[in-house]
Amino acid sequence: MDTRPPTPDIRGSRSGTRAWRHPAVRDSSLFRRPGPGDPPRPIRVPPMARRKQIYEGKAKILFEGPEPGTLVQYFKDDATAFNNKKHGTITGKGVLNNRISEYLMTRLNEIGVPTHFVRRLNMREQLVREVEIIPIEVVIRNVAAGSLSTKFGIPEGTQLPRSIVEYYYKNDELNDPMVSEEHITAFGWASVQELDEILSLSLRINDYLSGLFLGVQLRLVDFKLEFGRFYHEDEDVQIILADEISPDNCRLWDMTSGEKLDKDRFRRDLGGVAEAYQEVARRLGILPEGGPRDIPGPRTMQ
Ligand code: C5P
Repeated sequence: MDTRPPTPDIRGSRSGTRAWRHPAVRDSSLFRRPGPGDPPRPIRVPPMARRKQIYEGKAKILFEGPEPGTLVQYFKDDATAFNNKKHGTITGKGVLNNRISEYLMTRLNEIGVPTHFVRRLNMREQLVREVEIIPIEVVIRNVAAGSLSTKFGIPEGTQLPRSIVEYYYKNDELNDPMVSEEHITAFGWASVQELDEILSLSLRINDYLSGLFLGVQLRLVDFKLEFGRFYHEDEDVQIILADEISPDNCRLWDMTSGEKLDKDRFRRDLGGVAEAYQEVARRLGILPEGGPRDIPGPRTMQ
């Protein structure tokens, strides 16, 4: 039985409001605030055939996880662009994005950025904490490209005077319109405090990832983040990073040649899409041995 109230509480604990959470979550140590150095817990993951699908997106499928409040995030090879108008398959993309996102989320966890990532389960799946997704895409830009260049007539590659943060309302029917902080708080998609937290986490993530990619000769031009509300067992509500970070939602250019190593290769029919994703993984030192082959994952993870 779904015990959720009809309207989710978006105010969070900072305003003194106690939020709803799933009763089964109470006893699970997965739901303590994630801390560095937490020992891994043995988790039995049911085979894919027995999993209940919760949601299918353009590039990922979410299945019910092995414990209440967990999900299994499965990475597909499917690619879409221009709000689903362009479709394709990039062989091995799911395997690479699973690894790349695992790597980046792990690094972010290590510097204290809370994320939904728990652990990678196999080549295409990772275990994540279930969150209530905030229906906002946060785009952080360091260099003019894509829609910013089109909208304001700024040539691609122009260094921006400072990082620019934009918000888009996640709604395919409306074509994900750009929105202001006023829209977000007035329409109740997030509270003022939540938005403050989202902005400060986004800027921190941008600083950290810009440096990380610079270290492997990649320019982090722009990227998109999604956040969710995580309900702790002590009924505290925390904003944490969700979704994925991969060349599907980042623009990454080679520092010297300017070569695009991201989804723009698919969007703009530049060819060599899988190779570009592999190159990002190679530079990060995580290219699966022998390339992004599919190897069935173990069913029981330690
Ligand atoms: O298209 P635009 O220039 O606005 O994209 C900015 C950044 O956000 C790009 O890195 C793009 O990959 C990412 N993005 C995304 N999902 C969307 C829209 C943009 O990952 N729906």
